[in-house]
Amino acid sequence: MSDLKAIAYVSSATQLMTVAQLESLLVEARDLNLESGVTGVLLYSDGNFMQYFEGSEESMRVTYERIRASQRHKDIMEILNERIAQRSFPDWQMGFAQATQSELLALSTARWQRMAGEARDSSAVSPGLALLQNFWRRARK
Ligand SMILES: Cc1cc2nc3c(=O)[nH]c(=O)nc-3n(C[C@H](O)[C@H](O)[C@H](O)COP(=O)(O)O)c2cc1C
Repeated sequence: MSDLKAIAYVSSATQLMTVAQLESLLVEARDLNLESGVTGVLLYSDGNFMQYFEGSEESMRVTYERIRASQRHKDIMEILNERIAQRSFPDWQMGFAQATQSELLALSTARWQRMAGEARDSSAVSPGLALLQNFWRRARK
């Protein structure tokens, strides 16, 4: 069984983020993720974040602790936390895109947990992850 897990959450920025502030957050996160082997994507829309990240159990524990401790956001609501068989964003130390409010809302209210049938098939994805992968295919630069 693989040691990989994935976590997704939505949160509110403590203050509205400027492009420069988002960039500096990303530089920091990508550096840390390169060290720890964490990959994923971060979306931002009008003061709200949605992040999906994946990596080894131990690196996820450390990374999630750091993310939860950050003063730059609050009201973190976890929407996914589970073991995975393979990465969905292997090439992204932390991809970034701005999203619309309705895109973020759709992502945060989708079902992310896989049903038993989906979990048995390691290549099946939940509706939430499928939505994120679709969004990312359109948004990535
Ligand atoms: C929205 C958001 C996403 C983050 N993503 C990551 C990440 O992918 N990897 C990581 O190691 N840290 C991540 N962090 C933590 C930051 O890199 C940094 O360690 C933290 O923000 C520092 O705490 P401070 O914001 O209170 O100064 C994230 C923080 C926020 C607010």
